Amino acid sequence: MSTDWRSRTGPIGVLTGAGISTDSGIPDFRGPKGVWTNDPIAELLFTYPNYLADPELRQKSWLARRDNPAWQAEPNAAHKALAELEHGGRAVRIITQNIDRLHQRAGSSPRKVIEIHGNMFEVVCVECTYHTTMEQTLERVANGEPDPACPVCGGILKSATIMFGQQMDQRTVWQAVQVAENSAVFLAIGTSLRVEPAASMCSLAVEHGADLVIVNNEETPYDHLATEVIRTPIGTAVPRIVADLLKTATPEESAG
Ligand SMILES: NC(=O)c1ccc[n+]([C@@H]2O[C@H](COP(=O)([O-])OP(=O)(O)OC[C@H]3O[C@@H](n4cnc5c(N)ncnc54)[C@H](O)[C@@H]3O)[C@@H](O)[C@H]2O)c1
Ligand SMILES: [Zn+2]
Repeated sequence: MSTDWRSRTGPIGVLTGAGISTDSGIPDFRGPKGVWTNDPIAELLFTYPNYLADPELRQKSWLARRDNPAWQAEPNAAHKALAELEHGGRAVRIITQNIDRLHQRAGSSPRKVIEIHGNMFEVVCVECTYHTTMEQTLERVANGEPDPACPVCGGILKSATIMFGQQMDQRTVWQAVQVAENSAVFLAIGTSLRVEPAASMCSLAVEHGADLVIVNNEETPYDHLATEVIRTPIGTAVPRIVADLLKTATPEESAG
C-alpha cells in the first residue's frame, strides 16, 4: 500500500456522504445505525414518483423535514478540518451528497462546495419556478397546511433536494465531473458509494490520474481502485489526513 499520496501536490477533490455528519448527530442511511437499515420503508419518502403520487407520503415528508436533526446540528472535527485544508493553502473542491450545509457552516467557501444532491433549506415547486425557504414553508405546515401547495400555480412543493428517480441538475453534475477529472488526490469520506452518478466520481478521478483515498468504516464497491482505504473513524482520520496534506501546501495552489 502506497502512502505517497500524502505528499502529493496539486488540486484535492473531496466527495463526502452522510458518514461525515454522523458525529454531528445526523444519522446516515445505510450504515449500521442508518435510517434505512432500521426502517426500510423510510426509503419511500425519498423516491420521487411516490412523492408526486401520494399526498399522505408528502405530509409525512414535511414532518420529517421539520424533525430533521440537521436543524440542531453543528459542524464536527472532520468538516472543520476540510475547511482548514482550504484556508491552509491547498486547492480544495468538495462534492457533497449531504443536504445539511455543514461544510459551509464549518468555513468551506460556498463556491468551493458542490451540493450534488441539493440542500434541505430551500423549497421548490415541481411545476413552476417558484422557490422559497424551508423555514417559511414549515411555518405553513405548522399553521394547518399539512401538504402546502405552490402559491403561484397550485403545484406540489418539495425540498430542493434530489430524490431517487429525479433528474439531477446537469450543470451541477458537470461541475462535479470537472473536479474529479482535475484532482491529484481524491478523498471519498463517509459514503457507501452506492448512489450514482456521485459514486462514479471516484473512478473518473482515478482514470484521470488521481490517487483515490477512501475513508469509510464499511466496504465500498470502489475500494479496489483506491490507493489507500482507511477504516479509522472519520472524526480521527480526517484531521490527520488534513495535517499531512497541509505539509505540502504552497501559496500559489490556493488561488484557484
Ligand atoms: N447529513 C446529510 O445531509 C444526509 C444524511 C443522510 C442521508 N443523506 C443523503 O442520502 C444519501 C446516502 O448516501 P451516502 O453514501 O451519503 O450515505 P450512506 O448512508 O449510504 O453511507 C454512509 C457510510 O458512512 C459510514 N460511516 C458513518 N459514520 C462513520 C464514521 N464516523 N466513520 C467512518 N465511517 C462512517 C457508514 O458505515 C456508511 O458506509 C446521499 O445521497 C445523501 O444525499 C444526507
Ligand atoms: Zn408552482
